[in-house]
Amino acid sequence: MSKPKVLVARAIFPETIERLAQHFEVESNQADEAWSKAGLIERLQGKAGVFTTGSERIDAELLDACPDLKICANMAVGYNNFDTDAMTARGVLGTNAPDVLTETTADFGFALLMATARRIAESEHFLRAGRWQKWAYDMFSGSDIHGSTLGIIGMGRIGQGIARRGAHGFGMKVIYHNRSRLDAALEAECKASYVGKEELLKTADHVVLVVPYTPASHHTIGAAEIALMKPTATLINIARGGIVDDAALALALKERRIAAAGLDVFEGEPKVHPDLLTVPNVVLTPHIASATVPTRKAMADLAVDNLVGYLVKGQPLTPVNPAVLAKN
Ligand code: GLV
Repeated sequence: MSKPKVLVARAIFPETIERLAQHFEVESNQADEAWSKAGLIERLQGKAGVFTTGSERIDAELLDACPDLKICANMAVGYNNFDTDAMTARGVLGTNAPDVLTETTADFGFALLMATARRIAESEHFLRAGRWQKWAYDMFSGSDIHGSTLGIIGMGRIGQGIARRGAHGFGMKVIYHNRSRLDAALEAECKASYVGKEELLKTADHVVLVVPYTPASHHTIGAAEIALMKPTATLINIARGGIVDDAALALALKERRIAAAGLDVFEGEPKVHPDLLTVPNVVLTPHIASATVPTRKAMADLAVDNLVGYLVKGQPLTPVNPAVLAKN
């Protein structure tokens, strides 16, 4: 029997391709060419599955043009590149890569918070530019992490990981806001108290965003929300571009209405709002929160397991629109 065909839309570990090749006829983009939507559609003809990375938009137009497609396996926990309604309506399964990146991403959220609050990037640029002539009592004074109030918006697995690090490692007071409140045992484990969004913004010294991107979470933080924050506060976005109004944030940073921001994700990335590039009090990283080799390998493995699980064994591991399975 011939093997099902799958497409790998971006360059990936050679061992990931090898694993796929044990089960599928694989076409891959190891040259990491930028494919247009038409190019992606063309390559998807006859393919039962696609390995995506979060950059490929899977929408009704693409699905209608790719009638053989049965599963899109995202190597990302977020899946806002999927139009899940359109996929479900056409019986196409989507899968994501949760859990395997939780601790690595929480580590990064904390690293970005510390770099931002303690002005690590800004002071490093100063030093590299040869501008360090003498010690000064007020040189690059930042804000404390230990003992401060950490406000987390979005208390899923990654938010909880950040809460644990803050509460247990740094003695922070942790407050959080989420669509639904955690159960009491989980709140106790994270040492986190539930508050309204407005209270969180007003009282937190550091605000970390970890909400998934949906139309409802678009611009969770805009000018009005920034206006509620303390002038000494820091804002960290490791969630998705579009959760923050980047133009409003750049202006607030420029006018020092908050102290600093750390951003790993951007509206319209890989483009970055030009005003963010010119303000000094922001730490900018290119969407690398899950980027350690073991974690990226685990994410790729999970995407492979989902493709094999569904196309070979009929049982995916982490479906995002399980209604498709119920229909089968
Ligand atoms: C990264 O942003 C992911 O969603 O995994």
